[in-house]
Amino acid sequence: MSSSVKRVDMPYDVTEITAETPLPFDDESRQLFKQASPLLAGLTDEELAKHIIAVRDEAYKASNPYPCIATFFFVHPAVSTLQHKWYRALRARLNDPQAKLLDFACCVGQDLRYLHQDGVKGHQIVGADLEPKYFELGQRLFADKELAIGREAKFVECDIFNARHRASVMSAGRPGNGGYDVIWIGFFIHLFPFEQHKEVLKYLLSFMSKAPGTCIAGRLAGTAEAQPILRVYPDKSGSWSIDVENASLFLHNEDSLKAVFEDVAPGEWRLEAQVAKRWPPALAMRDLPQMLNFIATRK
Ligand SMILES: C[S@@+](CC[C@H](N)C(=O)[O-])C[C@H]1O[C@@H](n2cnc3c(N)ncnc32)[C@H](O)[C@@H]1O
Repeated sequence: MSSSVKRVDMPYDVTEITAETPLPFDDESRQLFKQASPLLAGLTDEELAKHIIAVRDEAYKASNPYPCIATFFFVHPAVSTLQHKWYRALRARLNDPQAKLLDFACCVGQDLRYLHQDGVKGHQIVGADLEPKYFELGQRLFADKELAIGREAKFVECDIFNARHRASVMSAGRPGNGGYDVIWIGFFIHLFPFEQHKEVLKYLLSFMSKAPGTCIAGRLAGTAEAQPILRVYPDKSGSWSIDVENASLFLHNEDSLKAVFEDVAPGEWRLEAQVAKRWPPALAMRDLPQMLNFIATRK
């Protein structure tokens, strides 16, 4: 391993970092759930936590054992941690009732629901994810299958690398393949090694409307100092091994993320990024990178 590469040892058994409870809720999390459905509005915090834990346990087993599921990241809307002026710009883009929002890699969909509660209509919202079981788990989590979002929003199974899936996402956007006005991507780009970031970004940008002012925003594991890290997993027998092919992870800062945008679409996007100030309180992981929030606006 090169000495410039930081080694981060990850527990194989993620139960080691699994949080036992999402309690105590902060006001924003409590509101996200209680406003989602009348069924949840009547629950005490303890009852709500029990419900969330039950769905978390299923979501954790549904696909990859994501640490962010184990540690209840989804209880906290991340889109609201954007700088206020970025959030306002993104939200304003959705004032036109024809405008479309894509929450890509939405998982159980806390961010698209936050935007819905902030006035974005169900028919404007599309969630996409590799794992469709998360869509149903999201409806259970927020008890909103029979409500406007359950009836009107679209959820599309999509592996970002699958052209047929991408075409399905595109056809859920503005009519005539007009694309999306806003894309939110939470905790997605950093899942892939640096070599794939351009490809992933190229596909994400291909979903966007061509109109100036459209924007793509998100959060990713990031840092003030861009750096590659290697995640090192012990195998089941407990001995540590590095699968360099699959374990490398690149943490962006503003400059390195800008460079990827410039490579993919020279001169087309204005990007701003900032290390996020707020962390989910239930975060039980140690030694992890910070979160980098960003917004890129089409010039
Ligand atoms: C770490 S979770 C983040 C979920 C959510 N956006 C958040 O911020 O809490 C990553 C999500 O990416 C999805 N994902 C992983 N690989 C994908 C791919 N190739 N195409 C589309 N989604 C993918 C996973 O199914 C999972 O829901």
